[in-house]
Amino acid sequence: MSVPLMPATDAQRRHPNELPQGEALIREIARLRKELDAVVLAHYYQDGEIQDLADFVGDSLQLSQAAAKTSAKVIVFAGVHFMAETAKILNPDKQVLIPDLDAGCSLADRCPPEAFARWVAAHPGHKVISYINCSAGVKALSDVICTSSNAVQICNSFPKDQPLIFAPDRHLGAWVEKQLGRKMVLWPGFCVVHEQFTARQLLRLKAQHPQAEIIAHPECEASVLDLADYIGSTRGLLDHVKASAAKTFIVATEVGILHLMAKARPDAELIPAPPSSGCNCSICPYMRLNSLEKLYLCMRDRTPEITLDEELRLRALKPVQRMLELS
Ligand code: 13P
Ligand code: SF4
Repeated sequence: MSVPLMPATDAQRRHPNELPQGEALIREIARLRKELDAVVLAHYYQDGEIQDLADFVGDSLQLSQAAAKTSAKVIVFAGVHFMAETAKILNPDKQVLIPDLDAGCSLADRCPPEAFARWVAAHPGHKVISYINCSAGVKALSDVICTSSNAVQICNSFPKDQPLIFAPDRHLGAWVEKQLGRKMVLWPGFCVVHEQFTARQLLRLKAQHPQAEIIAHPECEASVLDLADYIGSTRGLLDHVKASAAKTFIVATEVGILHLMAKARPDAELIPAPPSSGCNCSICPYMRLNSLEKLYLCMRDRTPEITLDEELRLRALKPVQRMLELS
């Protein structure tokens, strides 16, 4: 008796052995990019090999600006979900692909829209500023979005006597409060990666490298930021390393940023700040769900794709556009 041929399951089709390897994989991604008329956008926290083949590498603000102006038909977003979702908010008619749909963010995941709506309702008269690391549902409840590179500027765009609430990163919020000498109501969220850096570990490293500059992302807690010679977004940190005369840098952020720092400053010693527990936690577990293989597969199979309810998209669009206008 003959056995009818079954179509291959997804899992079978995606068996890694069947994937092109090495240079062939890079060539296939380039071919698909042309075939789909796609642009590949990558965050600085992606694996170096993804950054190397991307059309554009940037921080959250630069990536949303790039998404807002691309003429490509398909956006392949090598980053986390909220970044790809922001690209979709800005581009309802384009297909937005992400290598791994589970690439979330601890800040976004711990600020559910329902709880956020109750929190906003409990603060009548306040304007709502949300860090871009949040879901479309939270964006839709916000007056304006900010990123780590424009948070101070965006918060400062409100009159001094306007009460503000800031979500979901309490450390970024506290840093903005300090810069502006202005209190805000802060959602108690944090990034699982940046929360790992401690002043104690940094002081130990600094004692071993007294000439080093400490540079830190504002998602780090205040005691870490107090030790920093420079504080900024990933792009700000990279630009600082390019421009600084220092030869050694202790870098308190996700280690992916070291890829382009090392290319820009081959003469410099770049020391990743150690996490408190000696684990691998300075690697963002969400960002690193993406891989070159998954990038290829999402382009080949045109899935996973970001989809959004249109009514929600329109509500989330307003505060994102407001940010882009103010930036
Ligand atoms: P940037 O604004 O520097 O891109 O920060 C994004 C992020 O997720 C930091 O953890
Ligand atoms: Fe979110 Fe932190 Fe990862 Fe950035 S590094 S994507 S804030 S979990």
